[in-house]
Amino acid sequence: MRKFNRRAILSAITAALPTLLIDKARATTTTASLGFYVCTSAELKVGLSAIFSGQTADGTRIALSLFRTKTGLYAVDAVCTHQGCVVKGTGSLLVCPCHQSAFSAQTGAVMQGPGGGPKSSIKPLVKYKVTEKAGKVYVKGK
Ligand code: FES
Repeated sequence: MRKFNRRAILSAITAALPTLLIDKARATTTTASLGFYVCTSAELKVGLSAIFSGQTADGTRIALSLFRTKTGLYAVDAVCTHQGCVVKGTGSLLVCPCHQSAFSAQTGAVMQGPGGGPKSSIKPLVKYKVTEKAGKVYVKGK
């Protein structure tokens, strides 16, 4: 599981964004091979991204985006690599409310830097391994 720095954690916790909380029962459902349980498959609609935040069983605070296409399901970190705000999901694009950086919800690639700046000015969002099994979605860090 990826380690988060203090700034990223505080931003993720304090961001007043419409996120879905990973409740305690979900976060503690962890398997070594699949990672931690985030949501049911039915909660994720094709073409839309959803931001989830919560705490994993090992106490790690997380914020991540899940994005479903017709062909797959993708998970990326939802903490902006610029200064740690939590991005908002708008479909295939994740936009940071702080300085308007934009990222691909499928790959985490930078689509626009802070303030409309160059893509090369910040790092992409970290991708996570995502697995659907028996109607449930699990995410595992790299
Ligand atoms: S914190 Fe996201 S663009 Fe600045």
